[in-house]
Amino acid sequence: MSKLLEVRNISKYYTHKDGWLPGRRICALEPLSFSLERGETLAIMGETGSGKSTIAKIIAGAEKPSSGELFINGQALDKMADQQRCRYVRMIFQDSLRSLNPQITVGKQLLEPLLFNHDGRSLEERKKRVFETLRKVGLLPEHYHFYPHMLSSGQQQRVCIARAIVLEPQIIVADEAFAALDPSIRAQIINLILDLQQDMGISFIFVTHSPEIVKHVSDKILIMHRGKMIEFGTTQALITDPQESLTATLLQADNNYKVPLHSTTKE
Ligand SMILES: Nc1ncnc2c1ncn2[C@@H]1O[C@H](COP(=O)(O)OP(=O)(O)OP(=O)(O)O)[C@@H](O)[C@H]1O
Ligand SMILES: [Mg+2]
Repeated sequence: MSKLLEVRNISKYYTHKDGWLPGRRICALEPLSFSLERGETLAIMGETGSGKSTIAKIIAGAEKPSSGELFINGQALDKMADQQRCRYVRMIFQDSLRSLNPQITVGKQLLEPLLFNHDGRSLEERKKRVFETLRKVGLLPEHYHFYPHMLSSGQQQRVCIARAIVLEPQIIVADEAFAALDPSIRAQIINLILDLQQDMGISFIFVTHSPEIVKHVSDKILIMHRGKMIEFGTTQALITDPQESLTATLLQADNNYKVPLHSTTKE
């Protein structure tokens, strides 16, 4: 496997502009480095406020790091234009309905990233890609004409996944994207992601609190504590020989994510 993503010494500081202590610098992320191979899945775990979403947003380009660099296939990600970056990395958010535009049909929302990406395709070719993507995520051609409120929460999340994969990116970042779904829909969505990963070779980086999902789908785990990466390694290594007590606690916790997942566990 070749190196897909390299994160070198990224950190994030926020300066509070108002509130009790204006001008105070908050360290959300201390410098951290890790890398991911092509097709690998990385789970990011940690307590609340430990910096998980900050890492996810920096990788997806929604936040700029205060220092450090990110490379994808050896190219500096932070120096890419948005158009180029979104061909490499896309993000799925937690609240699928809110992340979809209520006034635009599903089909148009899936066409948007393709139109933004000037690759010389005709409108007909782009529409064909949208219908293909709907099929890949288990939606029907008629869903092209639906507005988001006409879909169930599982179907909405499928639209979000469709929007993430329509440009065939190399990495998808999902920040607690499955937490709000009921267990059976969550299992369907995770199984869909595993299938897409096999078909398209996409790498997933996902933030989750669920040890069951982590054990089932991830190749590597990154553990955060108060803005610091305290452990990083293969899922197997962190389960069998965790170096930090927090790692053991997070991976043992049982928080009702018992779901009927595919049998291809990576444990
Ligand atoms: N825009 C911001 N301005 C100031 N501080 C911020 C901002 N965004 C995040 N932080 C701070 O950075 C720290 C890390 O936040 P982050 O959202 O990455 O945590 P998290 O691990 O995702 O937590 P949770 O599990 O609750 O989602 C927190 O202390 C948070 O208050
Ligand atoms: Mg978060």
